Order: sequence, then C-alpha cells, then structure tokens
Amino acid sequence: CMKPRVFSGMQPTSESLHLGNYLGALLQWVRLQDTHDAIYSVVDLHALTVAPDPSVLRDRTRRTAAQYLAAGVDPERSLLFVQSHVPQHVELMWILSTFTGMGEAGRMTQFKDKSAKVGESGTNVGLFTYPVLMAADILLYDTNVVPVGEDQRQHLELSRDLAQRLNTRLGEGTAAIPEPHIVKEVAKIQDLQDPTKKMSKSASSPKGLIEILQDPKAIAKNIKSATTDTETVIRYDEDAKPGVSNLLRIYSAFTGRAVDAIVADYEGKMYGHLKSDLADVVVEALTPVHDSAMEWIESPERLDSVLADGAAKASAIAQVTLDRIYDRVGL
Ligand code: ADP
Ligand code: NA
Repeated sequence: CMKPRVFSGMQPTSESLHLGNYLGALLQWVRLQDTHDAIYSVVDLHALTVAPDPSVLRDRTRRTAAQYLAAGVDPERSLLFVQSHVPQHVELMWILSTFTGMGEAGRMTQFKDKSAKVGESGTNVGLFTYPVLMAADILLYDTNVVPVGEDQRQHLELSRDLAQRLNTRLGEGTAAIPEPHIVKEVAKIQDLQDPTKKMSKSASSPKGLIEILQDPKAIAKNIKSATTDTETVIRYDEDAKPGVSNLLRIYSAFTGRAVDAIVADYEGKMYGHLKSDLADVVVEALTPVHDSAMEWIESPERLDSVLADGAAKASAIAQVTLDRIYDRVGL
C-alpha cells in the first residue's frame, strides 16, 4: 500500500467524547481515511495511568470505540482496535524505554504539570513513561503521520527523536520518522462556560461541554447558556470575544460555511438568535452520530467482532516491526 500511514488514538476516560474530540480529532480521522492508510486505536493502556475503576474502564473502552465508528471511522477501510488487545505495544515500549534518557523523559511538560498539581505521591511511573508508550504506539506501525493538537506536540517530538536514535544506533530503516499533522484552527473548541479555556473532559464542568452521547435537550440548553460578553454585536474576535468566536467556529465547522459569511447573516441580530440556530445545527448534526453510537453500544457482539478483527490485523503489522527491532537489538 503506497498511501502514507496515519496513526491516532484516544484514551477511554469518559462516558462520552465531547465536541472538541469530535471536531478536533474524529472528523479529521474520518477525512484522513480518503488519503491515508489509517490505524485508529482506543488506548486503554494509557488510561490505566489514572487508576480507573475496572468495570468503568471496560465500559468506556467499548463506548469510545462505538463513537469512533459512529463518527465515520470505517473498519472496511481502516484498522480500528483496542490497544491492550495488541501486546506488541508494551513489548516495544520496553525497548524504547531503554533508548530514552531520564532527563529527556523528565522534560515532558505534561508530566511536570500533572505532578506539580498532585505532588509526587499522586503520580505513578506509568504517567512518567506515558510518552514512551505513545512512541511505541506510533513506531510499531511505521507511522508517517500523526494528527496532534498543541498539547501532544512535545510527545510526538520524543517519538521522532526515538525513531531517529533507533536508525542511528541500529541502522537505517529500523523506524519510520513520524510527521505531525497539525489540526486546523477551526477545530479548536473552547469551554462553553469559560471560553478562554479549551473544552476538556478533565477541566470542563458539565455545562461547559457538548457531548456526543448527551441528550439533545441538554446540548441545546448548554449552547443557549454559553458565556458570551456584554457587547451585543456578533463578530469574530478571539481575544475580545472568545465566547461568541467559539460559537461562530462551531457553527462554521458544522455547516462548512466561512465565519465571515455567518457573521454577515447575523448582522443586527442578537446573541440569542445565534445560539438558538446553533443549537439546532449541532443537535441535527450530532443526532445521527448519537443514534449510531448507541446502536453499536447496544450490539456488543457486533462491536467486539469489529474490534477483534482490527486487533488481529494490527497485531500482524506490529509483529513485523517488532521482529525487525528485536533482531537489531540482539534479542
Ligand atoms: P481532553 O483534552 O478532553 O482530555 P484528549 O486530550 O483525550 O481530550 O484529546 C483527544 C483528542 O481530541 C486529541 O486529538 C485532542 O487534540 C482533541 N481535542 C481535545 N479537546 C479538544 C478541543 N477542545 N478542541 C479541539 N480538539 C480537541
Ligand atoms: Na488532554
């Protein structure tokens, strides 16, 4: 297959994915299927770093996979699997950890931020080595392209450094060097209540989120009570009007229309008009995704069979890479 390979994954750490995940990641993944050889994973091993309840983790893993499928990840064209079903991720991670400097791992700002917040006793070694597992996820498939948001850029940089190091020490062709696929600006979704922060499952309150599996009435309610500003003019200005600008970006993302054209339509109208129309747009667009995800969730045998098929295919690809690296390191 001559198409470049793309790999991406999300952690199963919530009941439902939110609009940032959907517009910022899932829809990009779906589009990339046209031009790339795509591999998408529910990265449940990563989620263990936050010590989830076992039955909750198992449920969220399946719900997350169901939402990938509902958004349009197509198992006929792409590989879709659960990370822990492919043991080669952990095997390669061990090798890569022996190529990772302590100082290098210690410079990862996400770990530093997290451990600063909770203190060393609240962290674990898994959180510290998380970027090494992420590098294994990527290098295992000779990935060429990784869609990343700003918060994962440093981790991808480590993956690239490790790939280069493997090639230097073990010979060219040991690992493919992954390139970032920068997520478009329009996909940056902010919290509805505090639009100066990004919409995030860990930091947003329920009212700040729009979730795929949420009841449509609750989605509409959250949009209608979104924070705006005391001016009454609908215009795009991220700094002075982060709330209105966020609503305009969401509107644009769902309708495919330019922000300027939407602004022109709402000249002389009130925030309430924009919010009410946007609620209709979002509910209409998310309803089929919601319904399809629920169908997958309610058909566990069908879902498990898709995931088993994906894991078998992913494992076959992964083993080729792992055999090559084991051989070159002397195992
Ligand atoms: P969260 O920030 O809610 O914990 P993750 O870090 O698990 O979400 O992100 C999963 C994917 O969704 C990543 O590709 C990330 O870039 C994307 N993403 C998360 N939040 C947003 C957002 N507010 N806007 C755009 N993309 C987002
Ligand atoms: Na995050």
